[in-house]
Amino acid sequence: MARGLELTPRLRRLADWVPLGTRLADIGTDHAYLPVWLVLEGQVASAIASDLRPGPLQRAKETAKTYGTEIDCRLCNGLTCITPDEVDTIVIAGMGGETIAAILSAAPWTAMGHHTLLLQPMTRSEALRLFLMDHGYAIKREALVLDRGTIYPCMEVIAGQMRLSTGQLWGGAFLRQDPLGDTYIIQKIIRLQSAIAGLRHSERPDDYEKADRLREIVTALLSMREEWRHANGPGN
Ligand SMILES: C[S@@+](CC[C@H](N)C(=O)[O-])C[C@H]1O[C@@H](n2cnc3c(N)ncnc32)[C@H](O)[C@@H]1O
Repeated sequence: MARGLELTPRLRRLADWVPLGTRLADIGTDHAYLPVWLVLEGQVASAIASDLRPGPLQRAKETAKTYGTEIDCRLCNGLTCITPDEVDTIVIAGMGGETIAAILSAAPWTAMGHHTLLLQPMTRSEALRLFLMDHGYAIKREALVLDRGTIYPCMEVIAGQMRLSTGQLWGGAFLRQDPLGDTYIIQKIIRLQSAIAGLRHSERPDDYEKADRLREIVTALLSMREEWRHANGPGN
């Protein structure tokens, strides 16, 4: 524990993936717990903590002061106040998958092969995986973390090419061996089934198509679940 500052399991997983001695930027930092913890642990060479809003940035400054750490606090949207050559590792955590995709889309230099991205979407992780696949990023590793009753995906992403199946877009890229993989897939299936049920009484042709598309995703997830059970069943 870094002098009394304890990270939640979600942030701790990201911290464990931060390369030793890196120059870090934590985008959407809020309290700046992650960069302050990493500085206290001596794990990073430098840390920038940025946020879109003044309130969270003020909280970041207060955390840095409380723990007597030097972090560079910046107010801006996404990566607009970060230059490519001042950081090696970028964390974007605790936001929706579409927001994370929009932040990366506005900073195409993140797909040029010089940076490690640690991404942790709270919602719409499938939209983020699709964006990454279509824009020159590759998921190097992915893991699930259980934090206060909710399962969150964490991803390490680099520049590269990848092809993900429908099942992998929705159920995770590399979660075949993940202990939480089965529960994560089941939760996705339940949410999709409830969306399909909501469309059942609609008479709009668009909604028929939407329901058909969602059924295809459920089928893909069911076969992913079979693969997960096969890989993790007794004797494996
Ligand atoms: C729920 S907090 C997450 C804090 C921390 N990263 C974590 O994972 O625990 C989300 C933060 O992202 C910030 N945020 C949202 N959109 C942003 C953007 N486009 N650029 C920078 N920060 C953003 C919000 O102001 C908020 O402080």
